[in-house]
This record gives sequence, structure tokens and C-alpha cells, in this order.
Amino acid sequence: MERKIQSSLNKVSFVSITIATLIAFSLFLQTPKTSIPPSTPQKPRLRFPNSTCDSTPRHYLPLSKKNARLWSSKSWMTQVSSFTEFFTQLYQMRLLKKHSKVLCVSAGAGHEVMALSKMGLENVIGVELIESLPLVSRANPHNLPFFDGAFDVAFSGHLVEALYPMRYAGEMERTVRKGGLCVVVVDECSEEEVKEIARLFRKSWLLGSSNVTLNGRRVTTIIMRHKASD
Ligand SMILES: *[C@@H]1O[C@H](CO)[C@@H](O)[C@H](O)[C@H]1NC(C)=O
Ligand SMILES: *[C@@H]1O[C@H](CO)[C@@H](O)[C@H](O)[C@H]1NC(C)=O
Repeated sequence: MERKIQSSLNKVSFVSITIATLIAFSLFLQTPKTSIPPSTPQKPRLRFPNSTCDSTPRHYLPLSKKNARLWSSKSWMTQVSSFTEFFTQLYQMRLLKKHSKVLCVSAGAGHEVMALSKMGLENVIGVELIESLPLVSRANPHNLPFFDGAFDVAFSGHLVEALYPMRYAGEMERTVRKGGLCVVVVDECSEEEVKEIARLFRKSWLLGSSNVTLNGRRVTTIIMRHKASD
């Protein structure tokens, strides 16, 4: 007797579970009546960087306009003409020529690149960790993306600020052809310090140094020539 009751109870609960499932399923299939008609205009989506590492440049001004503004500023023109004066001395010493391939390492916004280009040099490349197109491309000075011996002259005004000066100097030297020049500018320093800096360039010999004024600063220019044989 008890068994019969038990089995009929089981049947009842099975039936009720089935009904409940069917109801839930039909509710699920019904499209809600409150859905927004597809014609409702959507709020314009704001564009945020995908992550904090998203370094895609966001130009608020077209690059050409931005550059036109920068290049016509007084400070820009003063610095470019100071570099022009500086490189003209190298030109007169016949260390730079019209056809020289020149690499400017840590070229910042590209003052020296513009100075050299205005002097009529056609093969000038500027690199910096942060690019400033069209004058300066992005490259790590400690790991330059150029072949060995690709340039006649490598120039830098930022060797002493480098994280690894020896590696930095080594990269300048590597990209310069045998017989080519590495030219660095540092705050005015003694002959002893000049020799110390020149020692960072292990495959070159010290051609000379001189004290000059560049961008209103007293600096020492150090010129090294890549040894013709290693
Ligand atoms: C950011 O994400 C969107 C969509 O996921 C994608 O289309 C876009 O290319 C991404 N942008 C960058 C800079 O990764
Ligand atoms: C440059 O100036 C420094 C300090 O004023 C001096 O010690 C050094 O001899 C000068 N170098 C040259 C090449 O004249």
C-alpha cells in the first residue's frame, strides 16, 4: 500500500517538473515586449585607449600643421641655426660632405636633422625613442636597426645621458663604416674626460676635440675615426 502511494507521488512530481520546464522554456522563447526598436539612435561611442599601454598617437592637429607651427617658432629656428653653424665647421674641415650618410642618434625633435638637410645633405637619418615624423624615426639607441657600416658619420649630443654608454657608443660605432666618424657633443670637459669618453669607442681612435658653443651651451666636440682595420 505504502509503495503504491510512493510511486504515484513520484509520477506526480515527474509530471510537475516536466510542466515547469515547458513553461520556463516557452518563456525563454518569447521575445520580451519591452525590447527597444532597432531604429532607436544609439549614443555615440567614445573612443578610449584600449589599455594604458595603448600608445597609438592621437593627433589633435594634422601633422603638417603641427610641424609648421613648431618649425616656425623662434626657439626652433635658433637651435637649428646653431646646429648649422656647428656642422658647417665639420664641413669646412672636410669631415662632412654633401653625399655623406649621417645618422643622428637621440635626435629629439630633429633640430640637427633639419640643420644637415638644409645644408644640402641628402642622406640624413634621425632616430629617437619617441618619433617626431618626418625628421626623426623611432629606434632604440642601444639597439639600432641598421646594418654594420651603413653610415659615414654618426652624431649624438646625448651619449653621457645614455643608460648604458658603452653599449650606446658601441652601436654608433657598429653602424659607421671603417674610416667613418663618430662625433659626440658633451658639456665642456677636460682632456682627461675626453680620453675617457673616447675609450668607450673601442674600434676607433681619437681624431680630435674642441670647445665650442652650441645652443648657448659651452660644449666639447669629440671626433673619433673608425679604425680602417679591426
Ligand atoms: C582597440 O580595440 C578595438 C576593438 O576591440 C580594435 O578594433 C582596435 O583596433 C583596438 N585598438 C588598438 C590600438 O589596439
Ligand atoms: C676645453 O675646456 C676645458 C675646460 O674649460 C679645458 O680643460 C680643455 O683643455 C679645453 N679643450 C680644448 C680642446 O681646448
